[in-house]
Amino acid sequence: MAQLNLLAPPPWQEYELIDSGNGAKLERFGQYTLVRPETQAIWSPNLSEREWQRADAIFEKLRGEDGAGLWHQRRPIPEQWLLHHDNLAFWARLTPYRHTGVFPEHSAHWDWMRGQLASRRQPRVLVLFGYTGLSSLEAARVGAQVVHVDASKPALRWAQENQQASELSERPLRWLLDDVGKFVAREIRRGRRYDLILMDPPIFGRGPNGELWRLQEQLPGLVRECVKLLSDTPLGILISAYATNISALTLQNVLDAALTHLQGTTSAGELVLRESASNRLLPAAIYACWSSGGHPHQAQQHAAR
Ligand SMILES: C[S@@+](CC[C@H](N)C(=O)[O-])C[C@H]1O[C@@H](n2cnc3c(N)ncnc32)[C@H](O)[C@@H]1O
Repeated sequence: MAQLNLLAPPPWQEYELIDSGNGAKLERFGQYTLVRPETQAIWSPNLSEREWQRADAIFEKLRGEDGAGLWHQRRPIPEQWLLHHDNLAFWARLTPYRHTGVFPEHSAHWDWMRGQLASRRQPRVLVLFGYTGLSSLEAARVGAQVVHVDASKPALRWAQENQQASELSERPLRWLLDDVGKFVAREIRRGRRYDLILMDPPIFGRGPNGELWRLQEQLPGLVRECVKLLSDTPLGILISAYATNISALTLQNVLDAALTHLQGTTSAGELVLRESASNRLLPAAIYACWSSGGHPHQAQQHAAR
């Protein structure tokens, strides 16, 4: 019987989920506290309204479907500020779509990733929908050759700034502006191979030339194509997503269906953040993971509780 895991990132000194509720979350990124919308948080907050009102910036979603909004600042927040975690340094910013360039929950996978990569000399890692590059930088930091693909020029520039801030400029990292589907098809034709593939697809996105990405329709095909990119001695595939209408089990079934000819273990579950005000767990994302060898990404390894 399949079992879903709850994975929480190891503690971050410079990030804290303080509280959540009433459709929002109260977080600290370095010295700044922020309030951002959070559709999962339909419960009541633990802290008082006064404490929430003391946040340094509050994001207000504007009407419309695209999620854009305005930041109301109680004290001036710089255009960007530096954060650190696990020997990485990276920039946080207040973006018009409520994001900060940092998804702390992704670091819940880094122990597993480092464990997989440690067994190889210069393993090849492909990161799809790579955004501001934190997982790519972590892989490069521990010795991988990394190809990072994203459709957004600003996100790629930001990732390169993070590379500089982390003093990883000498590492073999390629930052590619491309549509994920087109890139993967081209890599298959070129006969390129990767030991580990990570992807963090949005529900809906666009490639640099307007190519449409819809997770629900295109993910199974993309995963099947990615399997063709695996080396003869692959390490794994990791998918994370923030799709409210898809279960982690669905992601695992997609992986299983694409990997029938390969040995290994699949696992799936939720990435969660633990509130400092109460220990309550906030579901932050879903994931599914395939490990080829003896390092299954199991509940026991980083169980949230
Ligand atoms: C930020 S991550 C997803 C984060 C999180 N999973 C979420 O949905 O909010 C999504 C990234 O995928 C990129 N992206 C979207 N569609 C793409 C496509 N067709 N090809 C390449 N990258 C794409 C975006 O530029 C963005 O940086």
